[in-house]
Amino acid sequence: MKTLKDLFVHTLQDVYYAEQRIMESLPMMIEKAETNELRNVLNAHLAETEKQIQRLDEVFEFVDEAPSTEECEAVDGLLEEAEEVMSEIDDKSVLDAGIIAAGQAVEHYEIARYGTLIAWADQIGLSQAKGLLEQTLEEEKRADKLLTEVALQNVNRQAAE
Ligand SMILES: [Fe+2]
Ligand SMILES: [Fe+2]
Repeated sequence: MKTLKDLFVHTLQDVYYAEQRIMESLPMMIEKAETNELRNVLNAHLAETEKQIQRLDEVFEFVDEAPSTEECEAVDGLLEEAEEVMSEIDDKSVLDAGIIAAGQAVEHYEIARYGTLIAWADQIGLSQAKGLLEQTLEEEKRADKLLTEVALQNVNRQAAE
């Protein structure tokens, strides 16, 4: 890797891998989720994730690269942890708290990655790619916020019981 553009492409491949792994993991989280609120948030984000992968395909075009993945150990670790949490917790409401926590760790990872890609796209002069990445960043931030809201609703509900 020599240039910022090389690093940009490398990180793009890393995020492309991450989004695909997330796509694979979300259905299991949805299946395990106890409350409708959490299931709805995860379902909506699954649909968004599909769009995000398509946006990444477009970003690859802007840098004249065929879409390809670079294994990302960070997201593998986060998703393995999520799977562990889901298999180890029996109490349903605690399970939701665990799923939310795991989901937010993934969202924060994505927020960091997309923030970096946007800054680099700006520096390299890829304004259209930057616009696409910004759309995705907004979705990641919203997903994170919605997970926080579901967590707070659950806390409130349990406090009321
Ligand atoms: Fe994503
Ligand atoms: Fe996400």
